[in-house]
Amino acid sequence: MSISLPDICAEVLLDEGLIAARVAEMGRQITEAHAGKTVHLVTVLKGGLFFLADLARAIDLDVRLDFLAVSPYAPGQGGVVRVTKDLDDDIADRVVILVEDVIDTGLTVNYVRTMLEERGPADLEIATLLDKPGRRIAPVPIDYVGFEMGDRFLVGYGLDLDGRFRNLRCIASLRDDVVLG
Ligand code: IMP
Ligand code: MG
Repeated sequence: MSISLPDICAEVLLDEGLIAARVAEMGRQITEAHAGKTVHLVTVLKGGLFFLADLARAIDLDVRLDFLAVSPYAPGQGGVVRVTKDLDDDIADRVVILVEDVIDTGLTVNYVRTMLEERGPADLEIATLLDKPGRRIAPVPIDYVGFEMGDRFLVGYGLDLDGRFRNLRCIASLRDDVVLG
């Protein structure tokens, strides 16, 4: 069964098959890069949830999952976010991969990366399904990128518009009249 595309969507940019193939490939890359090791996948709720679930099952290693939740940064605060749910596990000396749905301005991931770095992981990498390099404010070292995208606002596969449409199996852009109000 597939979920019908809401009428606010302009175009399916990435369909289910394309996403699945790319996530499988990223899983293989991570498996090769960390052969024999335990890998801690850390995701920022909620957008990264579906990517995390698929990526974790595409990695043929001992995988652990952990979650962070942050409140969005306020404009003009230099990317400071508030942590509303911290990790359960100690990541000191662990191989950690921060798993993101999308890196846009880079402010959120940079803040989280710095916070995790201070806990002394053996290795800290970043995997993002989507990268929007055209909107970057803070440079981010990204180790694994699924797809490079343009500047459009996207929904589906975890990405939301006011909490809706996360459960779409594809990733779609919005109609201009929805974006512009
Ligand atoms: P940042 O701008 O890189 O800090 O991204 C912050 C957050 O904005 C992401 O983790 C997403 O939750 C959200 N975001 C960025 N672009 C989109 C989009 O196209 N659709 C839905 N959410 C987005
Ligand atoms: Mg996010």
